[in-house]
Amino acid sequence: MSTASMLEGEAMRYATEAVKYDKSGDREKAAEAYRRAVDQLNRLIKLYPDYTFNKFYVEKVTTYQERMRLLKSEDGGEIGIERFTSFETKQTGSSQEQDESEPSQKPNVFWGEVAGLYEAKKAIKEVIVYPVRRPDLFPLGWSRGLLLFGPPGCGKTLLAAAVATEIDAEFIQIDPANIMSKWLGAAEQNVAKVFGGARRTAIAGRPVIIFIDEVDSILGVHTNEVGGEVRMRNQFLKEMDGLQDKGRNYHLYVVAATNKPWDLDWAFIRRFQKRVMAPLPDYATRLQLFELYCAQLELAPDIDLHSITGLTGGYSGSDIKDICQVVRQEVIRELFESGRADNSDSKPRPISMEGLTRTISNRKPSVSHEMINEYDKWFDQFKAL
Ligand SMILES: Nc1ncnc2c1ncn2[C@@H]1O[C@H](COP(=O)(O)OP(=O)(O)OP(=O)(O)O)[C@@H](O)[C@H]1O
Ligand SMILES: [Mg+2]
Repeated sequence: MSTASMLEGEAMRYATEAVKYDKSGDREKAAEAYRRAVDQLNRLIKLYPDYTFNKFYVEKVTTYQERMRLLKSEDGGEIGIERFTSFETKQTGSSQEQDESEPSQKPNVFWGEVAGLYEAKKAIKEVIVYPVRRPDLFPLGWSRGLLLFGPPGCGKTLLAAAVATEIDAEFIQIDPANIMSKWLGAAEQNVAKVFGGARRTAIAGRPVIIFIDEVDSILGVHTNEVGGEVRMRNQFLKEMDGLQDKGRNYHLYVVAATNKPWDLDWAFIRRFQKRVMAPLPDYATRLQLFELYCAQLELAPDIDLHSITGLTGGYSGSDIKDICQVVRQEVIRELFESGRADNSDSKPRPISMEGLTRTISNRKPSVSHEMINEYDKWFDQFKAL
């Protein structure tokens, strides 16, 4: 066993013990066990500063230290343990039933708000929409995994949100915090629970989409392999395999997004039969984005969005949004500085061609050529897999 898994295991053991003593009112022993748990966690954090779950462990350390202080103070007993370590209590108590896979709030983004991304939209239709509508047309089954990758700020997260709105399906978003939120239960069990819940819903007849945004952060290959992380990744792979079993004709899909596809290992990538790049916006898409973001702004008559669009080759969707915001900010600042803003009828001056071109020339694209090449290279490498 590696040092890391050992520390992790020890920390879990002490924390479980601490909660047990805490519940039975043995304040001294509880405080001592919390202290040991904190020691192990601190060593883990120090030894593996890049470990995925450190943020979570740092929070644990703070919680346990706070609890220790209370246990040692005079009125420690007055404050119920539930308020501090509510999930440890549940986890080590008898109620293990609760379902972790609460569907997250559906985001409110519409398909039409996502400009361009033709390939990605096509893939979503083919992988999810068509099989849901007419499963009878897919006698050989259909893909369950879709990996969206591409440079930052090009609409991957936005697109996934739109899928949730547009497809009448249950949408479950996984992030490291909700997977690790019950660490005494171990992350792999949480993964199993999420998939288990999703499977039940799907078998009952309702399509389910599990979305993992920034998947590299929880399932990427890291230099420091710590036990919990490896176990969670394996569980995940196992769940993905389960989806492919023959005779599974319910609708459970896994959509993952990343801007660091090279951090994912091939075992993971292989399980996403459909991999689609969300590229930098082309001319038509950029024009659409300018029209979208300028729709709420007043433009001077000399503004020519076509020539503006021509100036922004290589800029991402979020760069274009920023540009429109900066220009907007400028005219609003002027309104305030002129002292006219107090008059509620006053309006900022229209946005000028000069303002837009100047803002563009002051702002470099956030994605470099080299980065774009990396995405193409990566895609080529995994196309045939
Ligand atoms: N194709 C697009 N259509 C409409 N808006 C876009 C598009 N691409 C980017 N944007 C704008 O940029 C913002 C950031 O996009 P989003 O968060 O979806 O990027 P991302 O590809 O998920 O980036 P990252 O890899 O950094 O997570 C969006 O909220 C939206 O305002
Ligand atoms: Mg994103």
